Amino acid sequence: MPEIKFYKHEPIPMEMHKVKIVQQLSLLPADERLKKMYDASFNTFQLHNGDIFMDMLTDSGVNAMSDQMQSAMLRADDAYAGSETFYRMRDKLEEIFGIKYCLPAHQGRACENILASTFVKPGKCVIMNYHFTTAKAHITRLGGHVEELVKAEGLIPVSDLPFKGDIDIDAVEACIDRETPENIAFMRIESGTNLIGGQPISYKSMKEATDVAKKYGIVSVLDASLLQDNLYFIKTREESMKDKTVREITRMIADLFDIVYFSARKFGFARGGAILVRDEAMFHSMEDYITMFEGFLTYGGMSVKEMEAMTVGFDESMDMDVISQGPQFIKYTVDRLHEAGIPVITPGGGLGAHLNATEFVSHIPQEQYPSGALVCALYLCGGIRGMERGTLSEERTPDGSEHFASMELVRLALPRRVFTLSQVEYVIDRVKWVYDHRDMIGGLRFTHEPKTLRFFTGKLEPVSDWPEKLVAAFKADFGEDQ
Ligand code: F0G
Repeated sequence: MPEIKFYKHEPIPMEMHKVKIVQQLSLLPADERLKKMYDASFNTFQLHNGDIFMDMLTDSGVNAMSDQMQSAMLRADDAYAGSETFYRMRDKLEEIFGIKYCLPAHQGRACENILASTFVKPGKCVIMNYHFTTAKAHITRLGGHVEELVKAEGLIPVSDLPFKGDIDIDAVEACIDRETPENIAFMRIESGTNLIGGQPISYKSMKEATDVAKKYGIVSVLDASLLQDNLYFIKTREESMKDKTVREITRMIADLFDIVYFSARKFGFARGGAILVRDEAMFHSMEDYITMFEGFLTYGGMSVKEMEAMTVGFDESMDMDVISQGPQFIKYTVDRLHEAGIPVITPGGGLGAHLNATEFVSHIPQEQYPSGALVCALYLCGGIRGMERGTLSEERTPDGSEHFASMELVRLALPRRVFTLSQVEYVIDRVKWVYDHRDMIGGLRFTHEPKTLRFFTGKLEPVSDWPEKLVAAFKADFGEDQ
């Protein structure tokens, strides 16, 4: 979106859309939220959406659709095989990415399952700038391991580096040397690096990494789930790219990779996923997995209505007015919090604002899940649902010990075109209150701990009565009905 000029007001992010359909929200009083938090076993994934005021868990599958996307759903072609909807989707993806073969799958992790099943064998290594939970879980499930080679400076919470998702090329070379090229299953580059704060990777770094992959005959894979944010940052922060159109940048990126996959719950603003494959033989090596686990090759487990919507969504993702909304709202949130002295990841990236729980609640030891505790405090004190992105989101090491996350984050996602600036102001205000009362927040411990992806379904409890005390302090300041 262009920066709209004001007469007497400081510039603020401006929505380049208007609201046509709304969903009513309600704000439960703090006492009821406390009860709901116990019902949800201190895991925000277990809350019911009706009990939430600001759902900032994720942008996955909850970005607002446009009128054009919704109307496209009406022309969906219901056919088990050969749906015209699929060919429209495939052709649009080929137009944008220049890659011919398309395998539809029901969401991003289904693509990851198929990629891991195709390439990963016990002992094999997958090189990444940084892992994503589901991508890693599929690789380790098959006996592979992940090497995360993001540059060390990408993990420094407060900085003004434009591309904190960049990969360390010397470390890539050293890793290939150590592992041998034959033992590398593939190289996975994640755009909009999710777990380190939605931080982008530059085109330059993608090019360097894929050049090395080519040199050693290693398959290169782009996770394009958060590509729309990353495109915005390349266009606005990478000097050599600023005069290129979003479409040109997208094609230049795609040209670097053998495979591009994405969750269409993010890229395309709908619900689904796909793997794009350049090489025909490689495409055939994967298609059986689609028919066995996803569906026929022309729907891959997706609703054709969603496929029509995402086909329009892909086009909208090539429009700066559309893709700048998320990053600009995130920057606004991050800058306000940072100015107030609240520990946040800077600069603002894509996906959401990320609180740095390591500092925010520095008194909570990592084995008591500081990010998990902070995310619960935000629900208690504002009806805001964020997502834990720290040690809880990691898997234990094979010997059963905790694997401490390199960053303890609470993500406040800003799904695109969903919230207004006044709602964002409410969140900033509540975070400020929680920060001023941070010493009251205590840790959590598991009462039920699943082995895989424990953050989704695990049950926890507070280590003391800190939630009751926090809610009492909140009510003393805001009254019984907030
Ligand atoms: N890759 C990235 C970078 C993601 O952020 C996600 C999902 C996936 C793959 C998996 O896609 O959910 O469609 O199976 N991220 C969601 C999130 C869950 O909340 O950040 P999926």
